[in-house]
Amino acid sequence: MSQKFYGPLAVINFLLLSSLFRSGALNDVSDSKQAEELFKRLFIQQRVKQLEAVKRIRTLAGEKRQNLMIATAAESIFKVLKSSRSIVESSGYVPGLTSFPESQETREALSNILENTALFGELLLHFPEISHAVLKDSHEWKVLYEWSVRFSNQTELLDRITTTLIDLVSQELNITDRKPDFINPYYKKPAKKYVPSNFSENQIKKVKKKQKLPRGPRLSSSNIKYDL
Ligand SMILES: *[C@@H]1O[C@H](CO)[C@@H](O)[C@H](O)[C@H]1NC(C)=O
Ligand SMILES: *[C@@H]1O[C@H](CO)[C@@H](O)[C@H](O)[C@H]1NC(C)=O
Ligand SMILES: *[C@@H]1O[C@H](CO)[C@@H](O)[C@H](O)[C@H]1NC(C)=O
Repeated sequence: MSQKFYGPLAVINFLLLSSLFRSGALNDVSDSKQAEELFKRLFIQQRVKQLEAVKRIRTLAGEKRQNLMIATAAESIFKVLKSSRSIVESSGYVPGLTSFPESQETREALSNILENTALFGELLLHFPEISHAVLKDSHEWKVLYEWSVRFSNQTELLDRITTTLIDLVSQELNITDRKPDFINPYYKKPAKKYVPSNFSENQIKKVKKKQKLPRGPRLSSSNIKYDL
């Protein structure tokens, strides 16, 4: 197997394993409001990495490899979603109702849900044929993912880019009604120009420096753009 195969898959695995949250950054923050703010910032950093990974998969991998990669990623994503869901549900945390959780275990489960929901959402929008096939093969995953999308949407912890991602994913999956102008441009047929999520070095630096919430993505009739 070539370098090209391991490249993007390694990136996905790295993303799945290297949640910034798990670096312990939040361990010492006991103030709930402070912890919530830090959590949101770390989440944005994780999302920037996700978008770079998706871009690499688009540009590096061939179709067969993309298939395998997404199937492999989905295994990990849904395993984590499943266990995190049961932790969160038994914790008493109710998104949008209870305050940011105190317990490290719940916080970690929460970040796992948001990160993995967003990551699969990116895969779903960028590789719709493959990702829909993955969900079609497993009713359990489909139900779990729909739960995750609704849950994430209710947390009020998402930045604007991710909120829009969740909105697009909900429409793509028909969880919510499709708006008249909804179109996912990443389908192979009919052929549409591919517009990558294009974070430049400078933009990424800007996020890291200012930690300000990114704007977009915006859905227009012909493309989806992530810009800061
Ligand atoms: C997400 O939240 C918004 C605003 O509360 C709501 O309009 C939308 O239907 C929700 N989407 C899902 C998938 O629950
Ligand atoms: C969602 O609904 C549209 C329009 O009815 C349909 O073409 C599409 O296949 C549906 N997608 C899914 C994932 O159910
Ligand atoms: C991505 O952005 C860079 C600089 O911002 C630009 O030079 C490049 O053409 C863009 N790539 C694509 C594919 O749009």
